[in-house]
Amino acid sequence: MKDFKLEVVSPNVKISDDYIESTIEYQTSHVRKLNDGKIQIAPETLSLNVRTDRKVPKLGVMLVGWGGNNGSTLTAALEANKRKLKWRKRTGVQTANWFGSITQASTVLIGHDDEGKDVHLPMNELVPMVDPDDIVLDGWDISSLNIAESMERAQVLDVALQDQLKESLSQLRPRPSIYDADFIAANQSERADNIISKPKYEQFVQIRKDIQDFKKSSGVEKVIILWTANTERFSNVEEGLNTTMFELEDSLRANKSEISPSTIFAMASIAEGCTYINGSPQNTFVPGVIELAEHHGVFIAGDDFKSGQTKLKSVLVDFLVGAGIKPVSIVSYNHLGNNDGKNLSAPQQFRSKEISKSNVVDDMVESNSILYKPNEHPDHVVVIKYVPYVGDSKRAMDEYTSEIMMGGHNTLVIHNTCEDSLLATPLILDLVIIGELCSRLHLKNNKSESSEWVSLKPVLSLLSYLCKAPLVPAGSQVVNSLFRQRAAIENILRACVGLTPNSHMALEQRFD
Ligand code: NAI
Repeated sequence: MKDFKLEVVSPNVKISDDYIESTIEYQTSHVRKLNDGKIQIAPETLSLNVRTDRKVPKLGVMLVGWGGNNGSTLTAALEANKRKLKWRKRTGVQTANWFGSITQASTVLIGHDDEGKDVHLPMNELVPMVDPDDIVLDGWDISSLNIAESMERAQVLDVALQDQLKESLSQLRPRPSIYDADFIAANQSERADNIISKPKYEQFVQIRKDIQDFKKSSGVEKVIILWTANTERFSNVEEGLNTTMFELEDSLRANKSEISPSTIFAMASIAEGCTYINGSPQNTFVPGVIELAEHHGVFIAGDDFKSGQTKLKSVLVDFLVGAGIKPVSIVSYNHLGNNDGKNLSAPQQFRSKEISKSNVVDDMVESNSILYKPNEHPDHVVVIKYVPYVGDSKRAMDEYTSEIMMGGHNTLVIHNTCEDSLLATPLILDLVIIGELCSRLHLKNNKSESSEWVSLKPVLSLLSYLCKAPLVPAGSQVVNSLFRQRAAIENILRACVGLTPNSHMALEQRFD
């Protein structure tokens, strides 16, 4: 674990052995539209205490789909970084790193020095976070290959690196998992040789036992479960089936076919008090699962890693709409040749991905009533094709056509070679590291005598930055804009150490 180096010179921040406690002024504004057409804005200020538990637990992460491209790449990257491995490529010597991870490879602006120059701190030095080197991995896969064999099958990492990792990764073998041919593509059946053949309730019991067993045998203090298995089709949401936690529990006991493997994993994880993160697009979090998480006060987060094309979209559309330019047509083509692409070549699984990718511009479009009338949207089409030859090197091609001044048009065409798993793996790391941190953050209203420390709501919307289709608590605004999502993480971390949100006003530099 890294030392905590920060010293904050402020009467509003107390750093003890156990906690970092800060008092902050939290400012919002409440807006009302009045009958006479006027807009009334009422700025509001709350005095809050923010408490961060400094004790970083030994973290265990269990991956569903451990033997997949992402699962094996994450395992390899953890090991390679821990051992600080180097390997030769055609272009020179490469050293293991975590590029693409905001916690490990990005910085936060913390202020200015004596010369007025910006000072940045690595994000993971702002508050104590889990060090990737200390993470213990485990997991499940319907394919029985050990992780060294999975890494080889994935064809993601340089062979010279694979050779150094082979021996240690061959010791790791995924636990048998829940396979239901009705939920993933039929073309996956040939790898399903490691399965729990039991009725659904007993599968749930088995997954709970696996989590308990991992905790005991590894000595980890906290476990996070993350789904990076194949994309499932959407499950039906029906009254009597899964709309409440009681319906869901009854349906599980009754072995109802519409309860998906991922929903069973989420239920087992919640029952064990473990945060559950969904890295794929399917609707694992049916209303009954959300209610279950809320009832037990266990974190859930998702859906679908935001790694390549969608990440760029949530930046570009934000830029265009923010610049007063009107995107009218967004067409996205993808072709990829990895196992994810093979699974997505089936219509129902593609549909899950299409839904997840399609809502990403909604909030930005709705934000600008000068450009868009109510319910007006750009045409938005997503195509995905399976082309085995390109393997994990996914190609994403986007055309953005926008209306500019006086009926003119601006067309942007982007070709993005994604190297899919190398983009997604750092997101998995961030999801578990920030997800873990969230359980050590508490808030208290400073003004009210009776107020108690409260934790974040079970639906962890703070992880939206990392998700294509962010799940948010009922009644909350969905935010897709990447900059707003990142600002939320950055400013909450700053609040933990008593700093105000980064306003970028720089008044001291602009006025005499
Ligand atoms: P992959 O197909 O290489 O790996 C998935 C693994 O899950 C396979 O090893 C498969 O055997 C296993 N599996 C399938 N059903 C299972 C079950 N019920 N229990 C346990 N294991 C099961 O796919 P990849 O590339 O690792 O992606 C994983 C997921 O992440 C996919 O759903 C994909 O859509 C999603 N995702 C990936 C992104 C990326 O790689 N850039 C971005 C966004 C989402």
